[in-house]
Amino acid sequence: MRRVGILTSGGDCQSLNATMRGVAKALYNLIEDVEIVGFEEGYKGLMYADYQIMKPSDFSGILTRGGTILGTSRQPFKQMREPDANGLDKVEAMKHTYKKLRLECLVVLGGNGSQKTANLLREEGLNIVSLPKTIDNDLWGTDMTFGFQSAVNIATNAIDCIHTTAASHGRVFIVEIMGHKVGWLTLHAGIAGGADIILLPEIPYDINIVCDAIKKRASSGKRFSILAVAEGAISKEDASLSKKELKEKKKKGSMYPSVAYEIGAKIAEVTGQEVRVTVPGHMQRGGEPCPYDRVLSTRLGAAAALLIKNKEYGYMVAVKNNEITKVPLADVAGKLKYVDPKCSMIREAKLVGISFGDE
Ligand code: F6P
Repeated sequence: MRRVGILTSGGDCQSLNATMRGVAKALYNLIEDVEIVGFEEGYKGLMYADYQIMKPSDFSGILTRGGTILGTSRQPFKQMREPDANGLDKVEAMKHTYKKLRLECLVVLGGNGSQKTANLLREEGLNIVSLPKTIDNDLWGTDMTFGFQSAVNIATNAIDCIHTTAASHGRVFIVEIMGHKVGWLTLHAGIAGGADIILLPEIPYDINIVCDAIKKRASSGKRFSILAVAEGAISKEDASLSKKELKEKKKKGSMYPSVAYEIGAKIAEVTGQEVRVTVPGHMQRGGEPCPYDRVLSTRLGAAAALLIKNKEYGYMVAVKNNEITKVPLADVAGKLKYVDPKCSMIREAKLVGISFGDE
């Protein structure tokens, strides 16, 4: 019998179940005698041997179900080499569980940090196959991550809803969209939702340029402006600080709950316009996966199962030019896929009049 472990790690997304279903269904079809062991709450389940022996029926009826049937948790990569509160060596504990259960390989569904831990376990001698999860679409090595398109739908819908109320009242609205380091979600939802100004972590903004864009709209007769602002949007001023200086500044704290409120207060002060802030927050990770994600998850899941059947380990399955492929985990670990400020998508957005607050 071949035994395969599986876990979902880090922040959840809509398409984790759909992906696990893809892996499991293809595994059951490809390998006659296979057993899947599901670890609860991500790497935590592997550390503390919290698992369940899955049945094929566990993976039925979950294609459209958001969240994860296994649960998930954040286990920061930086702390992997630190013992837990009881002095347990986390990495050794995970290896121990893997060996005790006589697993042939471990399947990891995760984002950036989870891929780093997956690679660490690979370096420690475990057989790993990973799949690219995250609403941020920021994993290097894949054109697309599952969860991203579902989150784009929700964030776009939030901007759509704001449009009608913004138009009625003639206000400035800021919609804060998830993404601390990378702005793909804000960029896509901002364009899809017809935002007038899009602020991304990769393109530091000048608040005066942002305010000028709003004033220009107002003087041309537009009653409202909508800003799509990434959680990690950063001013030119802050971007010019060293990493250490910025850390110090952040440590001191801010009088605002998040960046959108800070930007909103400045806009109100400079333009004299009424400003409202909307933060859809974790709604962006909730609900059911969109059709695009269901297809992507099924394809990635099936491809991961094929790697396992062929005993090809140490890879993350990925999508490149709409073909499913594999990339070495060693190459993926620790790299983010940023929005290139010079990419054609930014150029095209600027051509239709969207301001990125930079020029
Ligand atoms: O990584 C996905 C993500 O939703 C980011 O977009 C967001 O910044 C972060 O997770 C939020 O994390 P948490 O769920 O731990 O608050």
